[in-house]
Amino acid sequence: MIEQQPKLIHAFGALAELGQEVANKNNFQETIRTSLHLVSGALGIMRGGVARYSRFGRELNMLAVRGLGDDFPLSLSLCMEDERQFLANGLNAIEVASARVLPFFQVYSVSIDAKGIELLVPLIIRDEIVGAMFLGEKATGEPYSTYEIEIICAMGRHVGVAIAQRNLMAEIERRAEENRKLFDDLRTTYHDTVKAFAAAIDCKDKYTEGHSVRVGKYSEIIANELDWTADQVEGAATAGYLHDVGKLTVERKIINAPYRINAKESAELNKHPAVGFEILQPIHHPFTDVPLAAKYHHERLDGRGYPDGLIDREIPYIAKLVNLADSFDAMTTDRPYKARRPAGDVIDDMRRNAGQQFAPELVVAFMRGMLRELAGDAKEKRFRRLLGREYMEAEGLTTTLRSALNELRPTSEMTRIDP
Ligand SMILES: [Fe+2]
Ligand SMILES: [Fe+2]
Repeated sequence: MIEQQPKLIHAFGALAELGQEVANKNNFQETIRTSLHLVSGALGIMRGGVARYSRFGRELNMLAVRGLGDDFPLSLSLCMEDERQFLANGLNAIEVASARVLPFFQVYSVSIDAKGIELLVPLIIRDEIVGAMFLGEKATGEPYSTYEIEIICAMGRHVGVAIAQRNLMAEIERRAEENRKLFDDLRTTYHDTVKAFAAAIDCKDKYTEGHSVRVGKYSEIIANELDWTADQVEGAATAGYLHDVGKLTVERKIINAPYRINAKESAELNKHPAVGFEILQPIHHPFTDVPLAAKYHHERLDGRGYPDGLIDREIPYIAKLVNLADSFDAMTTDRPYKARRPAGDVIDDMRRNAGQQFAPELVVAFMRGMLRELAGDAKEKRFRRLLGREYMEAEGLTTTLRSALNELRPTSEMTRIDP
């Protein structure tokens, strides 16, 4: 034992290094190569290889080889009987003489004998075959001693754990990818459902065809101008698409009345925000504000809105945003009793009502978006598509927008109420 001490110390050193290598998860291939190098270096082994087991293909695929030459197979197929015997053997070295009974050994015996493989170590981790080590003769030509075999098995355990870890990571990555795909599918489904709902709401109102869809798009423009995240922008668009969902329960003749509706009809119509909230509240939305936008999109900063007459900061921000988009669409589309208003008029209305009905910074964001498109700085011509080219080319629109923005800017940081 005395003369074996330096060898033992060397081997333990290699084992410690191997532990460190295994802990380094960054480069798996490199870890395995270094492991093989350390094992053979520590014990003076001439050649060998480390293979990873693929359960699905029932193959041992070489990850690292040393001194085996080009003619040694890089992939070795196992059969069920090999698997069974590997598992029964556990993580223990099998000497070639005993390994000859394994079916796979008989298939590859020519290559294995030609390379002087002496030991085969199945890498079994938690009752699962994760790979195998093939080790050739030692430089000294002596047979492996019991303690060397023990060291090899200890090292094999480290290598096996590295492979098992890698398998686990690959499985986690695969599942994460699967989840991501499922999530994307769900998101698309949600998005399509929201759009289908918006179309259903708009269907009921023949005079304001496409209103919900347009409000969704204007809400999206405002949220984009506010530099919201992609998720928040989608949430704002969804809130816009669904804000009038409560109208589904209002009688068609009230919605489509070709005259100004009376007080009773108006009271009926004014229930739609509360009804919308009731419809949307039980649904698990990815965006929490959607039901709130439906409930409060007719509130005004000055408290003269409905259903609750909330003021300024009592109104959820998303509802203020949708309110602006909603009002803009109401002003810029023909109604049965009222033609659409000219663009300049609408801008003027928004400017005057900033702080009364609308949150000033939202008006600023909306106007800025419009001005940007007119100046040719916007990626898409969304206003033009929603309002028509002629409408957006109204004379003096750019000047009106600029002066409105100049007037609003100094007070646009905070939502305020004018006395
Ligand atoms: Fe509404
Ligand atoms: Fe609306």
